Formats: sequence, structure tokens, C-alpha cells
Amino acid sequence: NLITRTLYRATFMHTPASPFDDPAGLQVQEDGGILVENGVIAATGTYAELRGAFPTAEVSDLRGGLLLPGFIDTHVHYPQGRVIGGLGMPLLEWLEKNALPEEARLADTTYARAVAQEFTRSLLHNGTTTALVFGSHFASAVDLLFGEAERSGLRAVAGLVVSDRLLRPELHTTPERAYAESKALIEKWHGTGRQLYAVTPRFSLSASEGILDACAALMREFQGLRFTSHINENVAEIGAVRDLFPEARDYLDTYERAGLVTRRSVLAHNVHPNDRELSVMAAHHCTAAHCPCSNSALGSGLFPLKRHLQAGVHVSLGTDVGGGTGFSMLKEGLQAYFMQQLQGENGVPLTPAHLLYLATRAGAKALDLQHITGDFASGKVFDAVLVSPSPRTPLRAVFDAADSPDRLLAATFATGVQGDLACVWAGGKTVYRRELGLAALSS
Ligand code: GUN
Ligand code: ZN
Repeated sequence: NLITRTLYRATFMHTPASPFDDPAGLQVQEDGGILVENGVIAATGTYAELRGAFPTAEVSDLRGGLLLPGFIDTHVHYPQGRVIGGLGMPLLEWLEKNALPEEARLADTTYARAVAQEFTRSLLHNGTTTALVFGSHFASAVDLLFGEAERSGLRAVAGLVVSDRLLRPELHTTPERAYAESKALIEKWHGTGRQLYAVTPRFSLSASEGILDACAALMREFQGLRFTSHINENVAEIGAVRDLFPEARDYLDTYERAGLVTRRSVLAHNVHPNDRELSVMAAHHCTAAHCPCSNSALGSGLFPLKRHLQAGVHVSLGTDVGGGTGFSMLKEGLQAYFMQQLQGENGVPLTPAHLLYLATRAGAKALDLQHITGDFASGKVFDAVLVSPSPRTPLRAVFDAADSPDRLLAATFATGVQGDLACVWAGGKTVYRRELGLAALSS
């Protein structure tokens, strides 16, 4: 009666365990079935098994495609969608000339509303159903982002970006105002629908100890907040942070001393960590969000994945739009693969299973949402993306010729683009459909 029940029929793949720890991390189900009840996965198996067990469930036939868990982008900047492609500059010059002038424009709520709509649409249309979003310096713009995310179905873990030095005056705040504006946004949005709040100092370069202490006060006062910032991205940046925090042992210590390195902390980049930083991150179960397209575009360096894994630091993946070059987690996975290949003996040879894990379950774990999303285990919310290339596209030719499902996954990362995604679901609702009225999808 009030239960909506759909049986999805598709070849599906997911990584309920990490392929970094468990060679059987990737699970593949050819002609599979996923039974979804009120947006939550109730059972999985072969299609034949589930059809037998639930003969009256409405069937959504997705054959010909590959169904994957919705992607989880653990580092992406909401106010930077319109400045993607500012190539040829290192981080600090890129911030000053490319990113910060655009971020200042979000003071205008009409402008911010349009950017928020573009941003949530860009993520969902690329198959990203959960994102750790670097917000805006303006509380009004962050409020608009959460409103758009909730309306569209995107799970945004986001917050007010706070800074009090070295950016530009319009983007600066004070510890008191940062605390008060963040508190109001937390009370309105943290835990509302799919939305969660992340306390977000921009980076230690632009955050005094006073701002970091205000962030720590918020983390203590409210339950379940996430924390995110940047770390060890660029050699010049690291030198500047060292000069600003003479008492700190290293970049991580600027956050660590404030009590901001926790199980629910995600630090973006970490291209140039020292061994102490890696061991402390591991001990506190804090995540490094790897952003390979950005690291390439800004010339930040080659991410030392092997050292992270050896130290036991959890690693997830982020697009870092607009330092990164777009919203595709498929492209991000491929670039991660390339950058490991380029490191020879110091690189980690990544397989398609690793890439899928990094794009999905690793992000869920980073956000402490592994019980809710990131794979297709029973009890999780149905966040999913259907890769199903259109006729006469390069990937369709590969799909039709493939003799094993593993080939589908490899080709999806190697050559898949936004146009190859046919449908995206968030919390069981269809949030994107390439062809409106596609017969196969309307049961
Ligand atoms: N560090 C501080 N702000 C930023 C930003 O917007 N992008 C990147 N890539 N690094 C940063
Ligand atoms: Zn960033």
C-alpha cells in the first residue's frame, strides 16, 4: 500500500570491501536484481532469484548497462564551477587571479542561486549523489546551496568557508562572526533531509588560530559534524604556512593543535606530507582526499598513495573543481591511475576495482556514511548510476563487444563520459535521466 517497491534488473558492480585490503573487494553480479523499498535496498542477488522471491514487484529493466553505486566526490568547490579551466598557474597565483575574484561574486544572492543550481545539476548529471562540498564565504550562498541540494536530491556535506587573512577583504570574517553564522546554518541544515554540515576553514594560510579555535568550538558543541580543509598541496603554500605558525611542527599540526584532526576530518591534497603527518592522520582515522586532476592542472605534484597506504591513512577521491578540470569521477579515477603509473616503483598499480572503490565506498567511509551509501548492501540507501552508452558511441561499441563484466568497468573508467550515464538515482528517486521517457526505465 504505502510501500513503493521496485526491482532493478541490471548487471551491477560494487566494492563492499576495499580492494586495497581484500582481493575479493569487487563484487560483480551479472543479470542481477536489486530490490528497493521506499528508497532503501531490501535485497540483492540474481534477477531470477529476486523475481522468484518478489513476483509482484514492479520491474525496472536496465539490461545493456552497468549499474554502479552513486559516486562520492570528497572535495569539490561550489563557487568555482564557472572558473574551471584556468590553466597554467600554480596554486597561490591561481587562487588570486582565477578563484577568489569569482568567489567574491557569490555575495550576490541572485548570482549565487544560479551557481548553486548549476553546481548541483553538474554533480548529479555526472553520477555524483554525495559530495563533500567546499562552500562559499557567504552564509547566504551556503544557505542557497543546501536548499538546491535538498531540492535536487544531492547529499551535500557542506559548510560556510571561513578565513580571516590573506585572501581579499570581502572574503574575510572574524572568529565571532564565523561561529555565529556557522551555528545558524548548522541549526537549519545539519541533518535536514540528506544534508550534513562540515566545518570548513579554507586552509591554515588564511585562518588564524582564532578562526581555527572557533571551528573547534563548533565541532565540540554540535553532534555529528564533519570537518574539511586543505593540506600540503603546494611547496610554496607549505613554506608560507610554516612562516605563519612558527610553533607548529608541520602543516598538519596547525589543525591538530586545534583538535581538528578526527575520524570525521577530510583533508584535501596531502601531496607533500612528512612521515609524522601520515602517522598522526592514521592514528586519528582522518582521510586524505586525493584530487589528481587538480594536482596535474596546478602542477602541485604526484600524490604519494603508496606512503599513505603503508602508513594506514584512508584515501578518498575528489574532483577539486575548479582547480580540477570537471565533475566526472570517472575522469578523476583515470587520472589517479595515470599518476600512479607515472611514479614507477613508488606508484601503486591501480585496477578498475580500486578506481570504483575510490569513487564510491572510500568516499562513504571518509564521510563516516559507510552504513548509508557507497555500495549496494541491503539496508543502504539506493544511490546509483547507470552507465549505458547511447548507440553509435565509442563506449557502446565496447559494451556490446565485451565478453566479461570486468571489461565494462575498465572501459567505463578509461573512456566513459557524462553522456554515457543514462540514469542517476538518489535515495531511490530518479534525479537524472538522459532520455526523458526512455521506455526501459519506466518499468
Ligand atoms: N587551497 C585553498 N583554497 C583552495 C582552493 O580553492 N583550491 C585548491 N585547489 N586549493 C586551495
Ligand atoms: Zn580545494
